[in-house]
Amino acid sequence: MGVPSRLVSAVDTPSPPVFAVRPAGAADLDGLVAIETAAFETDRIARRSFRKLIEAPTAAVTVASLADGRLVGYALLLFRAGTGMARLYSIAVVPEQRGSGIGAALMAESERVAFARDRFLLRLEVREDNASGIRLYERLGYRRIGRYLDYYADHANALRYEKRLRGDAQSTAVRYYEQTTDFTCGPCCVMMALGHFRRDYAMGPVEEIKLWRQATTVFMMAGLGGCDPHGLAVSAARNGLSAGIHVSREGSLFLESVRDPEKRRVMELAQEDFRRQTVAFEIPITYRPLDVAAIRAALAGGALVIVLISAYRMFGKKVPHWVLVVGDDGRHLFVHDPWVEDREHETHSDAANLPIPYADFEHMARWGREPLRAAVVLRPR
Ligand SMILES: CC(C)(COP(=O)(O)OP(=O)(O)OC[C@H]1O[C@@H](n2cnc3c(N)ncnc32)[C@H](O)[C@@H]1OP(=O)(O)O)[C@@H](O)C(=O)NCCC(=O)NCCS
Repeated sequence: MGVPSRLVSAVDTPSPPVFAVRPAGAADLDGLVAIETAAFETDRIARRSFRKLIEAPTAAVTVASLADGRLVGYALLLFRAGTGMARLYSIAVVPEQRGSGIGAALMAESERVAFARDRFLLRLEVREDNASGIRLYERLGYRRIGRYLDYYADHANALRYEKRLRGDAQSTAVRYYEQTTDFTCGPCCVMMALGHFRRDYAMGPVEEIKLWRQATTVFMMAGLGGCDPHGLAVSAARNGLSAGIHVSREGSLFLESVRDPEKRRVMELAQEDFRRQTVAFEIPITYRPLDVAAIRAALAGGALVIVLISAYRMFGKKVPHWVLVVGDDGRHLFVHDPWVEDREHETHSDAANLPIPYADFEHMARWGREPLRAAVVLRPR
């Protein structure tokens, strides 16, 4: 057997430089300007901008330095107030030190800093012709979310990338299931709870459709394809769980976007039927939203909680969406999102056990103009 080529090249390569990463300080200005000059031909960040950014609470500049103190790279994050997002505005390593892991280390530290500041998404743009940048981001798990045409001063296009940050997310005992249709997010949350609370229960696509048929109010694919909280609670109870509904208002839900009066009427009747079934199954309904503190208390008591969110902050689509809250670390709620966005680029690990800062979760957990807030608390019976 031959020697693997990677081993050969590792032996042949001179030992990589020893470097450290740390936050930038005012004394790093000369070094930052030197890196910027060496790395970019145009659109350079000016010295006075670096000075401001080092001080700004809305930015984080991380530098990489060699053992002799010389700066060899930097990464710059921007934080926009009131969002769960951080943006990598710039990263650069001096040409003679590239290819030895400094770029990757700057990215790792930037992700850590962003997560520590309660950001759960890191976004960036990269020139379409920047092969080394694109390789770095894809290797680190960034997925492509779009393209801006004519983005740079020289008319080059930009590719947009995003990564969901996880910090040191603890693992959860709740098994994850990815929805296999566009409209079964709610039933998949019920299914994950069944998989967790019932030893004899096997998750799968047949169960997914069965639970959906038990919970949906949909009529000939009119309006939203999904499920209302009453239907989800009834399907959970029908399959052996104890369920409690928390909803911000009485009456029919999700009907605003259904134009056809006939379809509206059928959906209303289906919801009325579900509300009657909640009585038969003795499912309590509380007409008050479940806030983060109450969700945490339910989790601490061993429950799992299905929560209605606006998918807008999760993946930019204005649709109602159900996720399952499976954990809490004192600062984040951990969520299994049954929807794996863009099957080509996102994997289960992007959608399972997502840490979402409390304030962001509170913000996400609502849908529509009014807005509607709804949750179903599930426990073993
Ligand atoms: C993009 C950039 C920051 C990457 O920095 P870097 O320090 O070279 O990044 P890394 O060393 O972590 O990774 C680069 C390569 O080195 C390899 N590498 C990483 N650690 C290594 C090590 N210890 N030994 C050998 N190779 C290693 C990586 O596998 C990677 O290989 P690949 O590009 O062929 O896939 C750098 O190329 C740069 O400054 N470019 C100009 C500015 C720029 O384009 N910025 C991005 C704007 S969006």
